[in-house]
Amino acid sequence: MNLTEFNVWLDVVFTALYAVVIVALIVHFAFDVITGRFRKKWIDGQWPEHDHAVPAMPKVLHFVHMACILLLAFSGMYIRFPFFEGGRIAMRWVHYVAMIVVCVVLLWRIWYAFFSKNKDWREFAVRRKDMASLIAVAKFYAYLSNYKPHTAKYNVMQKLVYNVFLYLMFLQAFTGFALVTAPFIFGYSPRDLLVGWWLGALLGSADLAGWWARIAHYVINWLFIIMVTAHVYLSATVDIPCTLDFFGIRKLKVTGGHGHEEHAAPAGVAMAEAE
Ligand code: HEM
Ligand code: HEM
Repeated sequence: MNLTEFNVWLDVVFTALYAVVIVALIVHFAFDVITGRFRKKWIDGQWPEHDHAVPAMPKVLHFVHMACILLLAFSGMYIRFPFFEGGRIAMRWVHYVAMIVVCVVLLWRIWYAFFSKNKDWREFAVRRKDMASLIAVAKFYAYLSNYKPHTAKYNVMQKLVYNVFLYLMFLQAFTGFALVTAPFIFGYSPRDLLVGWWLGALLGSADLAGWWARIAHYVINWLFIIMVTAHVYLSATVDIPCTLDFFGIRKLKVTGGHGHEEHAAPAGVAMAEAE
């Protein structure tokens, strides 16, 4: 198989996989209705309880991040498959501007998580206690049990996915910059500096290294599309009051006395650690 055939194969495999994911989410939703969870939430109004509120900054950063990823996925897919006439220049501009913004916001979010007054990296740390709850949480989402362990603000599956989002963003930025061939850094291009000298040497040429970077960038693009689709599905079905609050549309009712905005270690974590 040559590289062109490999690219066509990737298009086919990921499009099919995406169709499978959509069907799986529809089936999942059907179970939400059959098992009565939908009714309990939407008709009886019994939504999950919350013992903390999320501060404004992560909400704003998430919003910018979300907007950028949507623009990047759309413009990126257009760069690969120009599905309407005459958008080439505009879509490349969109991709190039959004990729800079998304990198800045990513660094900002990491700074916020580790160094700000409200640092919240602990909320994303997967500890032994979280891993111990993995099977129970998975069973809950698969409708095999109605018990959902509460060990921290985010459950273990959320934590794992949010961590994967972070690593994928780094890989996507790395492989994305490796697609830039303009030699504007002392005569070298980002491709030369990121992959040319080692992967290029290994494979025989910087061009070939660029091909592989493009393939990786495209595969990760699909991983984003799949994961974000599931993330959006869950945020639309599991806990709508929380989602509305997260987007600043309607304030969430916080139960318990710990839900203070300025809390460095949120109540969920503090409670879990005190257990
Ligand atoms: C994180 C920073 C990112 C950087 C630095 C970046 C950079 C780039 C660059 C330079 C190109 C080539 C554009 C051209 O040919 O003019 C490209 C293409 C592309 N990007 Fe990105 N990008 C980033 C994020 C993303 C994200 C988040 C997605 C999707 C969720 C994405 C999806 C794509 C796709 C599908 C292509 C077309 C690849 C192909 O032709 O096979 N990019 N990107
Ligand atoms: C496209 C529409 C999106 C919607 C509707 C959405 C919705 C949400 C909601 C409601 C939460 C809060 C969950 C909770 O508090 O339990 C959340 C958190 C989060 N989302 Fe999204 N999201 C979207 C896109 C994305 C994208 C594209 C990414 C990253 C690639 C992402 C990464 C995250 C992360 C890391 C968190 C953890 C909280 C934080 O960052 O402070 N989301 N999302």
